[in-house]
Amino acid sequence: MPNLLVITGSLRQASSSRVAARSVVARLGDRARCSFADIGALPHYNADVTGDPAVAAFVAAVEQADGLLFVTPEYNYSVPGVLKNAIDWASRPAYASAFKDKPCFVITTSGGALGGVRAQAHLKYILNGMLARPYPGKEVVLAQANAKVKDGALDDAAFLAFAEEELTGFLASLGAPVTP
Ligand SMILES: Cc1cc2nc3c(=O)[nH]c(=O)nc-3n(C[C@H](O)[C@H](O)[C@H](O)COP(=O)(O)O)c2cc1C
Repeated sequence: MPNLLVITGSLRQASSSRVAARSVVARLGDRARCSFADIGALPHYNADVTGDPAVAAFVAAVEQADGLLFVTPEYNYSVPGVLKNAIDWASRPAYASAFKDKPCFVITTSGGALGGVRAQAHLKYILNGMLARPYPGKEVVLAQANAKVKDGALDDAAFLAFAEEELTGFLASLGAPVTP
C-alpha cells in the first residue's frame, strides 16, 4: 500500500481544503496509507536556520512518502505563502532535494467559481522546477469550496467521484519508472 503525504495549504480551523482533503482520503480507503503534514509548525524559510525539528520532520515525511497529495486554496492567483514556505524548506539542495522524482497530485480549491486553477498551474510549475513529478492528468478543482462544507463534511458527490477517479490513476502510476 503506498504512503501518501497530504499537504494542505490552509491553516485555518474551518479550512474547506482540509475538509476536502479528508473527504478525498476517506474515498481512497485502504488503497493508500495517508498522513497529514503540519506545515503550520514550520518557521519562515531562512537558510541560516539548521536543525529545526519541525523542518527535519517535514523533510523526512516528504522523503519517505511514495507520493504527495496537495490540497490547497488559491491566494491572490497563486499558492498560499505558508505552502510555498513549506515547499522551499524541502527544496534544498536544488535539483537533488526530497522532491526530486516525487510523484505529486494537486487539488486546488477556491471560494469562487474557478476552483483555484491558477494556483494549480503555479504549483505544478513550482514542482516541475524541483524535478518532482506532478501527475499529468485532468485538473481536479473544487469551486465554491466553503459553501460545500456541511457539518464538517464535503457535500459535493461529483467532485469526490472525479477526484477519486483521477487519484486512482495516480496511485496506479506510483512506482512507474521515471521517463527521461
Ligand atoms: C489572502 C487570500 C487570498 C485569496 N485569493 C484568492 C484568489 O486569488 N482566487 C480565488 O479564487 N480565491 C481567493 N481567495 C479565496 C480562497 O481561495 C477561499 O476562501 C478558500 O476557500 C480558502 O481556503 P480554505 O477554506 O481551505 O481556507 C483568497 C483568500 C485569501 C484569504
